[in-house]
Amino acid sequence: MKALQWQGVNKLAVGQVPDPEIRNAGDVIVKVNRTVTCGSDLHLLGGYIPFMERGDVLGPEFVGEVIEVGSDVRRHRVGDRVVVSSFIACGRCWFCEQQLYSLCDNGNTNPAITETLWGHAPGGCFGYSHAMGGNPGSHAEYVRVPFADVGAFTVPDTVTDERALFASDSASTGWMGADLGGVKPGDVVAVWGAGAVGQMAARAAVLLGADRVVVIDRYDNRLHQAEKHAGAEILNKALTVRGAQMHGQRYIPMLLDRMARGELVTEYLATHVLPLDDAPIAEGLDGGDESLRVLRDPEGNEFCLVQRGPGES
Ligand SMILES: NC(=O)c1ccc[n+]([C@@H]2O[C@H](COP(=O)([O-])OP(=O)(O)OC[C@H]3O[C@@H](n4cnc5c(N)ncnc54)[C@H](O)[C@@H]3O)[C@@H](O)[C@H]2O)c1
Ligand SMILES: [Zn+2]
Repeated sequence: MKALQWQGVNKLAVGQVPDPEIRNAGDVIVKVNRTVTCGSDLHLLGGYIPFMERGDVLGPEFVGEVIEVGSDVRRHRVGDRVVVSSFIACGRCWFCEQQLYSLCDNGNTNPAITETLWGHAPGGCFGYSHAMGGNPGSHAEYVRVPFADVGAFTVPDTVTDERALFASDSASTGWMGADLGGVKPGDVVAVWGAGAVGQMAARAAVLLGADRVVVIDRYDNRLHQAEKHAGAEILNKALTVRGAQMHGQRYIPMLLDRMARGELVTEYLATHVLPLDDAPIAEGLDGGDESLRVLRDPEGNEFCLVQRGPGES
């Protein structure tokens, strides 16, 4: 069959790959009707996810028709039109029982990679590198869908392919964003990023009863979509997030000048003086409910300054 293959950083090509086959009894084979790229694909294209191999088939989000079913599949038959979750989950492990499907213990056949990276392996994903199971994606004529009873959903006749398609990933992700944000009636919600995910998060917030939803991006065309289709207010302004370990050498001379001029006073931050012998107690206070900082003097007399929280002196 034909498929879109990753050939290297920022290199794609359509090539021939073997047709997928049923491997496990819970699999179905889906003939892809519609498939769409996700913002996450950029991370693969740009080489930020290092576990891609030349020839890997991309595509996380798709809708199609079931053309073959494994012997254990109960919820699907040949001919069903289905949308498939981009994450692959078994439905039976502890995480799946908690509905934490993207953390499934059995959906990712290469868990060692992400366990090493993050300390825990998430589930598998279609078309999303060998770190996420190396499952061929949906930018192809056919896809093998593991655990199809859990991950594939029959699409109602009244829902078009182009609508159902986005339930696969963007609409689920956006809705989950609003869900994790605890959006409730009357809230004022800001959504940064007006891609499909942000727009779906905004729409979810509207449907969950938020009073105002503001979508922020730098692309007017996306913002206009958010205004028209998600019912959101819009703001063309990018949020810049910057962070680092501090560059003390850059600031200390200037800070000392300001301290010398009395513009910057810090004595009030150190409110308690303790002898070094009491350092273990002071250590106990450090970071605890009452204190923020412990200072010690190596000479050992009156030296530990313990800063306490607001309201203490
Ligand atoms: N956790 C998941 O399961 C999951 C699933 C799907 C997508 N994602 C992630 O969600 C994000 C959005 O996905 P998408 O498909 O909508 O991506 P996208 O690339 O189409 O859209 C991202 C938007 O964010 C805007 N943006 C970037 N930086 C901004 C800034 N500083 N201030 C304001 N706007 C800014 C961009 O202009 C762009 O319009 C991506 O990072 C993607 O990887 C996560
Ligand atoms: Zn599971």
